[in-house]
Amino acid sequence: MSIFDKCGGFTMARDAAAAGIYPYFVPIEESTATESRIGGEWKIMVGSNNYLGLTHHPRILEAARNALVKFGSGSTGSRLLNGTLVLHEELEVRLAQLFRKPASLVYTTGYQANVGVISALIGRDDHVFLDRLDHASIVDGGRLSFGEMHRYGHNDVRSLDRQLASVAPEAGKLVVTDGVFSMEGSVANLPDIVATARKHGSAVLVDEAHAIGVFGANGAGTVEHFGLSDQVDLLMGTFSKSLASVGGVIAGSEEAIHWLRHHARSLIFSAAMPPASVAGVLAALDVMRDEPERRERLWTNTRRVTEGLRSLGFDVAGTTTPIIPVVIGEAIPTGILWRALFDDGVFTHPIVPPAVAPSSCRLRVSMSAEHSDEQVDRVLDAFARIAHRVNPRAAHQPHPSLSSG
Ligand SMILES: Cc1ncc(COP(=O)(O)O)c(C=O)c1O
Repeated sequence: MSIFDKCGGFTMARDAAAAGIYPYFVPIEESTATESRIGGEWKIMVGSNNYLGLTHHPRILEAARNALVKFGSGSTGSRLLNGTLVLHEELEVRLAQLFRKPASLVYTTGYQANVGVISALIGRDDHVFLDRLDHASIVDGGRLSFGEMHRYGHNDVRSLDRQLASVAPEAGKLVVTDGVFSMEGSVANLPDIVATARKHGSAVLVDEAHAIGVFGANGAGTVEHFGLSDQVDLLMGTFSKSLASVGGVIAGSEEAIHWLRHHARSLIFSAAMPPASVAGVLAALDVMRDEPERRERLWTNTRRVTEGLRSLGFDVAGTTTPIIPVVIGEAIPTGILWRALFDDGVFTHPIVPPAVAPSSCRLRVSMSAEHSDEQVDRVLDAFARIAHRVNPRAAHQPHPSLSSG
């Protein structure tokens, strides 16, 4: 028996490619904030996490270019050794302010932030409690820790309460939840989650990956939105979505951050964020502060597409965010409809098991502040053209671009 036997036996991806419905690793030849050229054709991008549409903002490009020239193309080492620039320190001060915490620590990716923080903090006799739909990086942090991991039902506070009650009251505990869930578009029920955690003496970590730039008066995320900054111990964020770069952050007490600086293995044993990426995030924070109208525009686009899809008869689950899941059903029809939209110039993502249950496969649509009215119309028109294949009643409905302004 060879370790490679399973590789030869893995045929699913090639079968999907042969059927013309393989949606992954699609090479983009060129892009704007809202469109990508693929195979020589421009597609409207509703599959990114570019919520504020900042990836091509002139101030951000200029800041990244200047840092590239001043510091070079790479950090060539870990934060602990030669990889810390004044830019990293400036960013940590800015993010601590944004999250209203005494300190913060910047990692090279959001994935590394979650893995490093959770595995470093959860020791042998500790317990970590995760929402069933928490991001993989949170799960992997729990797996890498020496403590015990528990999973509670999605946003199910009673299930969390039962699980917290089942461990020794004196044990160290941490509840971790996404602020916005990336496949559902749902928002964590933070007031109840935090109250339940507090009742059992548990610390709380909120992952604001999809909430930065989207929720909160300053765009800090769901904790700011619910006014819970002083009751949530740790806030995690990524720069790979609204902040249009790559990297991650954890914010918390001076003591916790000092500990993580010296114990988080994903920080210590990996090269630091490159200069241009750090400078890009600093400029993106400025733009987020100076152009609040972007958030309004994002919500306008989100409302138009959510309502447009509903009026066409699509099931968009209970989304209340710019992440709009269009539930189709089984994997193969989902792949076929993904391909129909792609050929019609609209780039979505098919979400299939294990990310979701086998009968709940979906097309994930995510909106940006930069999408124009005309692009929103084209997206809805493309969905209108496939609506009869999901919901036969839809064949008689007008295109949303004709019925909404
Ligand atoms: C909820 C959540 N947390 C963490 C991450 C990881 O972030 P990054 O892409 O910066 O590694 C993601 C990215 O997909 C995410 O959706």
